[in-house]
Formats: sequence, structure tokens, C-alpha cells
Amino acid sequence: MFGLGKSNDVTLTMDRPYAESLLDKGVQDVIGKPLSRVDGPRKVSGTATYAAEYQLANMAYGVLVSATIGKGKVVSIDVEAAKAFPGVIDVVVDFDTFALVSQQGGETAAPAQGVKGVEYFGQIIAIVVGETFEAARDAAEQIPVVYERETGVFDFSLEHQHEKKLPDNNTPAHSSQGDLDTAMREAAFTVDVIYTTPSQNSVAMEPHASIATWDDGALTVYGAYQMPTSDAQQLAKALGLSASKVRIISRFIGGGFGSKLGIAPESVAAALAAKKLGRPVKAVMLRHQVFEATVRRSNTSQRMRLAASANGTITGIGHETTASNLAEQDYFEPAGLSTHFLYAGENRLITHDLVRVNWLLSGSMRAPGEAVGLMGLEGAIDELAEKVGIDPIELRRRNEPPRDPEKKVPFSSRHLIEALDTGAEMFGWSKRQKPGQRREGEWLLGMGVAAAARANILMETSAKVAIGKDGSVTVSSAMTDIGTGSYTILSQVAAELLGVPMDRITMKLGDTNDVPAAGSGGSWGACSSGSAIYLACESLRGKLANALGVDAAALTLKDAQAIGDNRSVPIAELVGEGMEAVGTIKPGKQTKAVNQATYGAHFAEVAVNLVTGETRVRRMLGVFAAGRILNEKTARSQCLGGMAFGIGAALTEDMIHDSRTGQLVIRDLAEYYVPVNADVPQLQVVFLSERDIHANPIHAKGIGEVGICGAGAAIANAIFNASGIRVRDFPITLDKLLPHLPAF
Ligand code: MOS
Repeated sequence: MFGLGKSNDVTLTMDRPYAESLLDKGVQDVIGKPLSRVDGPRKVSGTATYAAEYQLANMAYGVLVSATIGKGKVVSIDVEAAKAFPGVIDVVVDFDTFALVSQQGGETAAPAQGVKGVEYFGQIIAIVVGETFEAARDAAEQIPVVYERETGVFDFSLEHQHEKKLPDNNTPAHSSQGDLDTAMREAAFTVDVIYTTPSQNSVAMEPHASIATWDDGALTVYGAYQMPTSDAQQLAKALGLSASKVRIISRFIGGGFGSKLGIAPESVAAALAAKKLGRPVKAVMLRHQVFEATVRRSNTSQRMRLAASANGTITGIGHETTASNLAEQDYFEPAGLSTHFLYAGENRLITHDLVRVNWLLSGSMRAPGEAVGLMGLEGAIDELAEKVGIDPIELRRRNEPPRDPEKKVPFSSRHLIEALDTGAEMFGWSKRQKPGQRREGEWLLGMGVAAAARANILMETSAKVAIGKDGSVTVSSAMTDIGTGSYTILSQVAAELLGVPMDRITMKLGDTNDVPAAGSGGSWGACSSGSAIYLACESLRGKLANALGVDAAALTLKDAQAIGDNRSVPIAELVGEGMEAVGTIKPGKQTKAVNQATYGAHFAEVAVNLVTGETRVRRMLGVFAAGRILNEKTARSQCLGGMAFGIGAALTEDMIHDSRTGQLVIRDLAEYYVPVNADVPQLQVVFLSERDIHANPIHAKGIGEVGICGAGAAIANAIFNASGIRVRDFPITLDKLLPHLPAF
């Protein structure tokens, strides 16, 4: 009865606010509900297939060869020696085509290629392929390689600072307004301090993995990717193929946190090996290779300056960040991202520079920018409150900007003060004492607070929604679920709008043969893909209304029935052979017309041990306003995970490079301390009710990253409140507290 043609397809560019969302009118009553993950049973039963788990016929096993110098050249690789190992099929060396580094997220170009020159310790220089993984690993670890060493830069020192101004990266490299120096001179109170944060690794549980298989000049890669559409373009460029010749399948991903936004070196290696051998090749990075040769969050040195009047009104904000990266890589950690708009203040200076080092690529890791930028800014704000002698929440209240203090545009929605006030009430903030006053035996106790902010992003994304003749619904898109709950919340959007129970929805994600999507990153996934599905469903609702003979506005869809004009007809009876629509959302003028961000407030209570200097987090509370919450359970889990990330950032996580060789000293999960159960106390997450009509048709804002933003600062501020010791050098390990603690 209805064609499958393009006529149902609909595109919306967010040039105007979207005042009324159909999600507020749905009666299926699933949106927002704390439903368990639809993919949960498959994951816990081991039937969700991750990249490395596909079994292809005649598959060979590749293990990557890591360079064991920090800077220099590969003179020779003894391929014959490696081939003599039992079970080894071949060693694939292609100095020109191998990827030197991972690519950054969203880029459509190839990553930097060419690996004869070694730019960092652990760089991937070849791949050994065997009949078994063990055979390949054995040879890969023992293959004789001759190097010519060169002098590298293996330590982070401001004397290696790059001279040129960097290209902008989500946020301007350099920006200024007014005159900060004068504001500092004339201020009643000032803060001028340096906060430093170390390099960090995403440490997704699943290592980077690719299985490459060729068919008649076309490449299929089963990979662990956050953004398959652009990843396929990157891989095609790297191999000199047209994008249509590369298909990426990424159905389940064991965490990404930014490390899988762009392609990593194993994908190119697997593709080249599979081509040479004429059979599928699987390449899974070893854990140390994930640390050494994917992507790290840059370390930062952040000079924070605040100027304030006698009553704490901020007159100047300076946030000057120096991060690090490889010589030809201009990505900088955008630590000042939310400093642009979090607080009022006429005089502002926000800059980003790079020190060039021979360490692995630095790039995006969960909440690039804010995650470490707020450790500096929110620490400095706490220091200012201390100097002014007012409560840090009151200080924030006094500096709440009525609109974006730089761009002078309105905020789309902003409930920062409400989050702080709600949190203060729930957390018992009024019981907070002066630093060093609360003691229980050998423990000093204290509370800290920090604001959370994360810019909201909408990305061009499509989704196809099809209603089959049996009334079942299939949603397909090159979107991914990196463990965040996308399968579930996107099902909820479709179920709510098409009035079908959740179990009638089939989600097909993670295949570039389906319509393109921006994938998962930057907290844009739910809003971008949710909006694309919304648009497709809205189109289908129009068709269903037509078929029922009512206005779309008079149509109610519930429990697979179409109801209107006093009739109730099964949806299946209205769709004929089936109907489908592709929805596409695009960012538009709303991006600049308003400032969009998710906000929140973190509260932490810690205990600092007087004898050992160890810090135990006792409890944390996060209050967030992120627009519509699509699923209270998965949203909460995102925030809990972010807060646990914050504990690691504050107290333990640290990627240390040996300054003599450039080798990572910490390159596995035994040494890279992520918070474990014993480190993570009772965490509480609360959402404020909010809608954002400027953001998108579903009125939600990003939530995947806000949980980490400010979380570490709240802990550091709590440590100060407990002990009176201000540590500005993260992570706050025992040795940084011990010398300053009073004798026990
Ligand atoms: Mo995120 S760091 O954009 O996965």
C-alpha cells in the first residue's frame, strides 16, 4: 500500500528551536524509564559478538610488532628469522602504508602513515601472521629488528614548547577578551597557580581489534570502532581505496572512551596482511600495545589565574594550558573549553599550546577538555572561595553569568546553581567544617564541591526506521553502542513514537552498509541518533495517520495499535507490505545562536589518613541537568562511570614515560591504577528535570561525559577541606600529602 521510496525520508537542520517534542505526547510510556539494557542478556551470556570474536573461515592470526626504541629509524627487520618460527605464515612489512599513529575522531583523512622512522616507543612497524595467535605472538616478540637511534624528546618540559599558534580544536587555541593583567593588578583577591595533570589512557576493557577480509577488491573489517562511517573513510584513504570499497562492522564494543574514535594502527596492518595472504587476518592489540600505540589523553600544565573584587565577583579569568603531542600532530587537549562560559568575568585569557614530545599520539579521551580543564578551573575556584572567605557554592552563585560571557548569546538551558543547591541539601553540605577540623581517629575528613559542565554537540546523523508487514520495527544505522546503552535508549525512542512494545523493536547498529551516522563520541550519540530516529518515526506517523484517515495530530499509537477517530486498528494492518523512512538530523544555526551545555554539581567526602597519607573517597553525589533523560538507568550508569573515572583521575591514574628512553613504564592494568570496587564508595546520581528545545527534537543533551567533568576536582577540594593541603599536581598520591600532614 505504501512505497518503500525516498518520499518518506526527512531531514531537519537545527536552525530554530524545536518547541514541541512528540516524545512528550507518546503514550507507550517507555521513554525515560529505567529499563535494563536490551543487549544485556547477550552480553552476560557471551553471545554478543565483539570484533575479535568473529570466526571466519581460513582465518590467520596477526600479532603486531612494536618498536623498541623511542626515536630513530628501522634499519632492517629479519623477516626470514621470524618465518622460521613454527606456525608462522608470513611477516608483513610495509613501511610506507602502515599507520604511524591512530587517527583522531571524525577525520575523513588517513592517519599519518610511514613507519620506517620511529617517532615513539611502541610504534607498530610490522605484523607477524601465524596459523595460531600463540605462534604469531612468539615470533612477533622475538623478531630481530635493527634500529638506528636518534635523540628524542622524552620528557615534558616547557622548553620544548612549540612556537607556532595551533589551529583551533573544538575551542580556539588562543582567545582573549579585555585585559587580564590589569584585572589581576587591580583585584582585591587573586589566584595565580599551576595545576598539572598526567597522561591518561582510556583502558577500555576490550583491546583494539580488527579482522580484515577481502572480496574482489572490497574490504570488510570487523572492528572495535566508535564512529564507523568516518572510520571507514579513514581506512579507505590509508589504503588508497574509494570509501565505497570499505565496510566496517562494529556491532558491540567493549568500551571506547575516545580511544576508538578513529582507526588505530592494527586496522591498516590487518588489511594489508589479509590482502597479501589472500585470507582473513585477525589483529588484536596486546594490552601493552593499547597503551603504547593507540592514543593517550595528554598531560597538561594549566596556569590558572583568577581576579576578584572584595565580595568575590570575578573580574578576570586566565586559563593557559600547555599539553603535549608528537611533532606533526596539532591536536591539543582543549582544557579551556568550558572556562569560556562557566563563570562571569570581563577580562579573559584562554590559551592552548603544545610541547612536542616523542610519546604516542595524544587525542580525545572521555570529555576531552573539560575532564582535566575542570580539575584546574574548579580547583582554582575553590582556592578563590577560601581567599575571599565565602562558601564555594556562594562564590559560584555570585559569578553565575546571565548569558555566555564571551559570545554574549543566551544559554539554551542551564541549571548549574539548582544542581549545586540541590546537591548541597542532599549531601549535608552545611555540616562542612573549616579545613583540618574533622577527625576520626587517624583520619581527617572533609567535603568538596565542583561544578560540572560539558558542551553539548549535535552531529549530522541518519537512521532508517522500517515497519514490517507484521508490525515489527527495525531501526538501522551506522551508529554504535560502545557500552553506553545506545541499543536501549534508541529502542525506547522508536517504541515511544511508534507505539510498539520494546520487544517489537530490532536495532541494527554498527554497519557502514546502513545509513551513515556520527557514531558514539563527544556525548552526541544519543541526541544525534535519537533525533534521526525521531524524524524517521515522525514521518512514519504521518503515513500511518493517512492510512487510518486521521490527522497526524489526532493519531495515537500504543501497544501496536493505531488509534484515532474512535477507531483502533493494528499498525500491521496499515503498513501493507511495510513502510520505511530515513531521518537525518543536521546541526544548524542553533549551534551558535545559543550556548548549549550539560551542567551538574559534584560533591565528595573524603578521608585522608594521617599516618599513610592515603585518601579514601567516602561518598560522592552528582546532580546533573542534561535535558530529557531518555533512560534513567543507563543515564545514571553513565554518570556513575564518569564519577569513578574522576576518582581515578584525582587519585591514581598516571601514564609515566621513562624520560631516558621514551618507554612507557606503566603499560598494563596491573600498573595503571583505575579505581576498583574498594576505591569506589557509594555514589549517588540525581537528575534535575529539564528540557532543551534548542538542542534537538528530543530535547535531551549529552550525558556520556559530564559525569567525569569536575568529579576529580571535587575530590581534590575535599582533600583540602580534610587536611588543609592543596595539591595541584594530579594524581594526588600519598607522597604528595605525607610531607605536609601533621605528626600523628
Ligand atoms: Mo569521546 S573522548 O568523544 O569518545
